[in-house]
Amino acid sequence: MRRLRRTRTLRELVRETDLDPRHLVQPLFVVAGEGVREEVPSMPGIERLSISELVAEADELQAGGVGAVILFGIPASKDEAGSGAYDPEGVVQMGVRALKEAHPELVVITDVCLCEYTSHGHCGIVRDGEVDNDITIELLAKTAISQADAGADVVAPSDMMDGRVEAIRSQLDEEGHPNVAIIAYSAKYASAFYGPFRDAASSTPEFGDRRGYQMDPANALEAVREAELDLAEGADVVMVKPAMPYLDVIRRVKEETGARVGAYQVSGEYSMLKAAARQGWIEERAAVIESLTAIRRAGADLVFTYHAKEAAGWL
Ligand code: PBG
Repeated sequence: MRRLRRTRTLRELVRETDLDPRHLVQPLFVVAGEGVREEVPSMPGIERLSISELVAEADELQAGGVGAVILFGIPASKDEAGSGAYDPEGVVQMGVRALKEAHPELVVITDVCLCEYTSHGHCGIVRDGEVDNDITIELLAKTAISQADAGADVVAPSDMMDGRVEAIRSQLDEEGHPNVAIIAYSAKYASAFYGPFRDAASSTPEFGDRRGYQMDPANALEAVREAELDLAEGADVVMVKPAMPYLDVIRRVKEETGARVGAYQVSGEYSMLKAAARQGWIEERAAVIESLTAIRRAGADLVFTYHAKEAAGWL
């Protein structure tokens, strides 16, 4: 077996998995204001950006070969109904317009969820201490429509309500957006690895947790079922999240559905790598490339990662 491992060119000749900037999606946090670039303390190298900075960031991403971004909004104020999520003049909607104007060919994906916009931090409308599924999906569909109206190419529901893909697909079609695609966060686990993101978006639930809607980390068959349901409801891509602790789930969803599969290397995965690298405990560049290659090898067609811009430079 060692004959084909002798030199770099021999190894590259027989390599099974390729990793290219075009497979990566850069998550970006959008805030209100002018000329704002705010460091996220728990995510070194990641900043909250106001619109002009967002466009500048997209210039750099495109120059580096990253062709897709996903936007998360941090609104100026939050309320019980998460109304900032579906405000036509909301931060994400304005960000989408600015990005598409500056870079028509950039794939602009929008996260569809209420948790960054609700005062209580849950992903939907709370009734009697629980997130109400069917009221929430109406507002999620409204959010998706407002993002599509602004020019989003793809909407990505991350809330884990039942039936949301169908609600979003049918309303997109009715409202004149038949070409807007859906990347469904189908197998989104109730994970401890979202901590730094909640810090970035100030979206930690005020009471309780998200286990009543996000998946139990112990389950894999259920992930396949979630993916199948989302595909039947009209999803174009199904996603597994987090990525590294769930490589087996990525593989199973890929094999059992044959669909396009996305994987989300989440904030906690990013921050762990950054923290260890800063301590000099791991070699950052090699560890990041290895982690992204492993996610691709497991079966992910596209990888959402906070390392996208940096990794593209290394590739
Ligand atoms: C919104 C959403 C979350 C993430 C993506 N979309 C947060 C959550 O569910 O708490 C997590 C992303 C990350 O940790 O990088 N629901």
